[in-house]
Amino acid sequence: MKTHVISVLAGDGIGPEVMPVAQAVLDSACEGSDVELRWEERPWGTDYFRSHGRMMPLNAIDKMADTDAIFLGAVGHPEVPDAETLWGMLIPIRREFDQYINLRPIKSLPGVRSPLANHEGIDLVIVRENVEGEYSAVGGRSGVGTEYAAAYQQAIFTKHGVSRAVSFAAELASERNGDLVSATKSNGIVHTMTFWDEVVAEVAGGFPEVRLTPMLIDALSARLVQSPQSFDVIVASNLFGDILSDIAAATVGSIGIAPSANLNPEKRHPSMFEPVHGSAPDIVGRGIANPVGQIWAGAMMLDHLGHPDLAVDVELALRSVLSSGLSTPDLGGQATTVQVGDAIVAALAGK
Ligand code: NAD
Ligand code: IPM
Ligand code: MN
Repeated sequence: MKTHVISVLAGDGIGPEVMPVAQAVLDSACEGSDVELRWEERPWGTDYFRSHGRMMPLNAIDKMADTDAIFLGAVGHPEVPDAETLWGMLIPIRREFDQYINLRPIKSLPGVRSPLANHEGIDLVIVRENVEGEYSAVGGRSGVGTEYAAAYQQAIFTKHGVSRAVSFAAELASERNGDLVSATKSNGIVHTMTFWDEVVAEVAGGFPEVRLTPMLIDALSARLVQSPQSFDVIVASNLFGDILSDIAAATVGSIGIAPSANLNPEKRHPSMFEPVHGSAPDIVGRGIANPVGQIWAGAMMLDHLGHPDLAVDVELALRSVLSSGLSTPDLGGQATTVQVGDAIVAALAGK
């Protein structure tokens, strides 16, 4: 029996609603196999912050370092500034464990409602640089409370940081269709983006089988809505990749279904798996959150842990349930979070 220890951080908002549903699906996928998931529940997040003044204990990173993966729900609460919650939990985990790739696959789900008339055949992956770029800690305010009040932020791109993200994306593109689009904004205005382009071109040059197309982020965003089918692998900076992943998720129906993997590809540290969406305060407590993003992120975790067969089982089960018409309201259905989870467990049991 192969046992994997998973740090479970359900977090805030709908995180604790979708997390147990996803855990039940993953447990049922493992049933009858020689794989077992041992869940280490960590009650960290905004409630913890309210009683302890921090989002996680001081030794949180050490506690998670020895576990095989981190399964995260969502972080963020309307009553506490995001600067406290996100810089106290989500961002430090990504950085301390050098999870420099944020992998966000988007695939059409036949039978699922989408805002696009033609949403068949979408199959793309966003490779988002995950630890530097626009999300830098260098910044602040000056002249607070005066008419000279200002805020500033330093975007920091390093050759090392951009190269490793592009290398990962080019490798992935070479295993897929060979098409790599780089999201940029290099029309002479943003210094960091001309630098991005240079490093991207240099690294992609080492992959002769990959066709690189740099595309300005504004036109790229429009094309992502008009013809998402025309993309295969998109490599993007931290902020551009963040925005593109919500747009891409919407093209296949809802941001509630999109998964993401924060990877330390060398496996020197645990990687973290979470849905693309946030804590969704507007629907919290109603039992209608779509659990598919969390479940799909769990499938990516199984794949990362060395069980691609189990990951495929989970993906097929969730596809069959969604295509049968059972879905939560964000996809036009009337099912609850738990009903969708139960149906996916039943589909796995009947496989
Ligand atoms: P959000 O993703 O939480 O919600 C945006 C919209 O999508 C809302 O209308 C919400 O109801 C809907 N939605 C999201 N997930 C859904 C699901 N699973 N099922 C059905 N509908 C769903 O984004 P937001 O409202 O801009 O942010 C809320 C909080 O979450 C903020 O504090 C933000 O910083 C945080 N956030 C955290 C993460 C993360 O933990 N990785 C990601 C994004 C946002
Ligand atoms: C995401 C989220 C986070 C990000 C926020 C909450 C900091 O939007 O994981 O997509 O931008 O990385
Ligand atoms: Mn986001």
